[in-house]
Parts: sequence; C-alpha cells; structure tokens
Amino acid sequence: MKIAIDGPAASGKSTLGMALAKLFDLRFVETGKMYRAVALAFDLGIDLPDIEIEVTRDERFLLNGQDVTSQLHTSDLDQKSSQVATRADVRSRLVELQRHIAEKHDVVMEGRDIGTVVLPSADVKIFLKANARERALRRMKQRGSGNLEEIERELLVRDRRDSERAVAPLKPATDATIIETDRKSLKEVISEASILVRDRLGHVAGAVEDRD
Ligand code: DC
Repeated sequence: MKIAIDGPAASGKSTLGMALAKLFDLRFVETGKMYRAVALAFDLGIDLPDIEIEVTRDERFLLNGQDVTSQLHTSDLDQKSSQVATRADVRSRLVELQRHIAEKHDVVMEGRDIGTVVLPSADVKIFLKANARERALRRMKQRGSGNLEEIERELLVRDRRDSERAVAPLKPATDATIIETDRKSLKEVISEASILVRDRLGHVAGAVEDRD
C-alpha cells in the first residue's frame, strides 16, 4: 500500500499522514523534512554530493549521521527549503531516496510532488486544500506564537514558489482525490481519507479473491 498526500504548506498533510499511518500500520515519511535537511546542510557549508540523509523507522532525520530532526522546523528553513526545492539536482537526489524507501516499505508519503512524480502509481492519492487564512491560523497554533498576517504572507510566498517552479511543481495528480479541509474537523478529514484507503484495500482484496 502506497499512499501519496500532497498539498500546500500547512494544509494538514502531516497530521492526516500520521493518522493514516497509525490506522493502517504504514510507515510515514514527510518529504518536506528532507528538503529542510538539505537547506540546513547548505547553511552548514556542505555541498550536495557530500550530503547523506537517512530517515529512521521512528521518523528521525539524520544528516551525515547526525540527528537534526529538532532543527528542521524553523521559519528560516521554511523559505530556504522551498528555495532549494527549485533545484533539479536536489530534487533528483531526494526523489531517488524517497522511491527507495517506498520500494522497501508500505508508506504514507507526504509532500508536493508525491502523486505526480515520486509515486505516480500510488494506490491512493490525496490532495489537501485549505484557504491561506485557515492554514496560517493552524501554523500559528502549531508554533505557539507569531503574527497571523506575516505567517499568511510567508505561506503565500512559499506556495507561489512551490507551484511556479519548473521542476515538479505543486499540483494535484490528475487521478488525485481533492479534499477541501476548510471548515472540516480533523476527524472528518481523517474519516474521508480512510474511506478512500479502505475502498482501495477492498479492491485489492477483491482482485486476490477473483484470482483464487
Ligand atoms: O512540507 P514542508 O513545508 O516541510 O516542505 C518544505 C519545502 O520543501 C516546501 O516549501 C517545498 C519543498 N518540498 C518539495 O518541493 N517537494 C516535496 N515533496 C516536499 C517539500
């Protein structure tokens, strides 16, 4: 089972991904953290060929062997990760790593190009949408501080860069199910997505029975 979740920044991909991973016993991979780790590595003066990123079973991110998980979610790296993500050489390194993980494990993988580029034949593809104000509110709550207008402005800058870049821009795959999350509770979103996954599992089980 491979589940792809894409969508703009702070649209709830991680919360949904974690919930689905738990419900269906899958490995959860936040690919945004890999772009963040690359941006951090560049800040530390490490060049791309010398960057090694590993993701552990319990979702720790190791940069050249060092656990950098707690350093990845700063607003500085929000923008820098989005900038490094426009580079084709960075993307091809990370896409290779992401596919490698998905070959070895059943996964819920979230990002911007999972359904379109990384796992084009994923079993379930979900694209989350939410308006910018709602996303800014969620991000502010998550961080516990900040100015709402400023957070919203930064999200919009990032959305534009992520959507307009030449390589693997943020967009729904043609066969993705779009879930609008505005005015929906987390429980409702999880329930909508779980139905898609169960449906798919039903198809797979049905196909096996037919074959038997
Ligand atoms: O999901 P996130 O906010 O942690 O991602 C940080 C940045 O990484 C995001 O602005 C764009 C980039 N990214 C990407 O281009 N492709 C992905 N699959 C995941 C993230």
